[in-house]
Amino acid sequence: MADDEANISYYKDIRPIFQSHCQGCHQPAKKGGEYVMTDFALLLQGGESEEAAVVTGKPAESYLVSLITPVDGKAEMPKGKKPLSVVEIDLIRKWIEQGAENDAPASTQLKFSMDNPPVYSAAPVITSLHYSPDGKYLAVSGYHEVLVHHADGSGLAARLVGMSERIETARFSPDSGKIAVTGGSPGRMGELQVWDINSKSLLFAQTIGYDTLYGANWSPDGTLISYGCPDNTTHAIQVADGKEILFNGAHNGWVLDTVFSVNGDHLVTVSRDRSMKLINVPTQRFIDNVTSITPGALKGGLNSVDRHPGKDELLCGGADGVPKVYKMFRDKARKIGDDFNLIRAYPALEGRIFSTQFSKDGTRIVSGSSFNGVGQVKIANYEDAKEISSIDLDGGIFAVAFHPDGTTVAAAGFSGEVHLIEVATGKITKSFVPVNIETTVAGAEE
Ligand code: HEC
Repeated sequence: MADDEANISYYKDIRPIFQSHCQGCHQPAKKGGEYVMTDFALLLQGGESEEAAVVTGKPAESYLVSLITPVDGKAEMPKGKKPLSVVEIDLIRKWIEQGAENDAPASTQLKFSMDNPPVYSAAPVITSLHYSPDGKYLAVSGYHEVLVHHADGSGLAARLVGMSERIETARFSPDSGKIAVTGGSPGRMGELQVWDINSKSLLFAQTIGYDTLYGANWSPDGTLISYGCPDNTTHAIQVADGKEILFNGAHNGWVLDTVFSVNGDHLVTVSRDRSMKLINVPTQRFIDNVTSITPGALKGGLNSVDRHPGKDELLCGGADGVPKVYKMFRDKARKIGDDFNLIRAYPALEGRIFSTQFSKDGTRIVSGSSFNGVGQVKIANYEDAKEISSIDLDGGIFAVAFHPDGTTVAAAGFSGEVHLIEVATGKITKSFVPVNIETTVAGAEE
């Protein structure tokens, strides 16, 4: 921490404050008061008021300082939130007094925005796929953006470029109108974004912690979004105002995926700690381990969880390569070593499962895995666990998704290609790279 004598660092002391309290509303995709704080020149310049936000050397003349300084315990900024702490306000004042210098390494400056989207020289690894429930779109994770494709693979409908360089999950709301995104910049920040599909605008963004966030999901009524963190915590927020309504720390490892119960009053989480846990939403309390917690019962962590569309049964996949369906609520008292909630196991995949999903009508399941650089996708009947089709692919598969019509699944991963696969036969009907790759030919001019 900076003391009175020391130089205050923008990168180490000031930027983290702006990141967690201001940039959600002041970034290229969402600029409250036409003010962007993610670009250093614009941070100094200010917004629609045309008052200089930061006057170098003069905190008393800096509009930003007047807006963050509380009067009768209330401050204009951060808008609608608690004022910054006295220590934070003091740091900002002193940094401006010392000349408001930018010591952030170039690599940490925001390079991309909706007006200046990323340019690709190679296909990025794909970590997330999700079809909109109305069947129109397929959301694909990109670098710094979510690529919204037409579901039939005919082309790109929108590019949603935000602050996070890495996108871990992008999931449509139940009404297909919005997308919740978790991601971040590894070792620097985590972020939750909510986008409106029709207007392609960022409705909400919040930076959280210092590492990427995982496993965003919607409550069935679309009012809540849950997500997991690498600091072992699980969270849920209200979509309307971004307020956190659930915080739980029951896991002992990264929380990688989350899903709500049918009526939205329970949340299920899976983790690297090998367990699937049940949390009560209104009380935020840990209720039960859904999977066995006997040492050795589960080999390795769990990466993915989905809920049956019509009942409280959970499909999970992880390091042991076996998709399994569990009852959410136990109907027998726990005995040490039991795995009573297990309903059935499905044909194993090669390697680790990274993604699993039910079909919209609940009659099928799909899973995708990765083993030594080879990918596999398997589709099975939900009721009798009979395999319907299977396909091996180049490059590990990190994401699978069922089209709502039940005839096609999408699968993608390390190779950066999206494959559309016919459910009945396991045959690829179409493959495409979800981004435009710029190839520069020596001597050629565009
Ligand atoms: C919840 C959204 C939100 C958050 C968080 C937020 N702001 Fe704002 N900010 C706005 C909006 C909207 C405006 C436009 C004026 C208004 O509506 O009050 C604004 C205006 C401003 C302006 C004036 C720009 C101009 O020239 O007119 C400054 C400076 C500012 N904010 C600084 C901050 C700082 C510093 C923080 C963090 C400590 C912060 N804001 C957090 C929404 C937000």
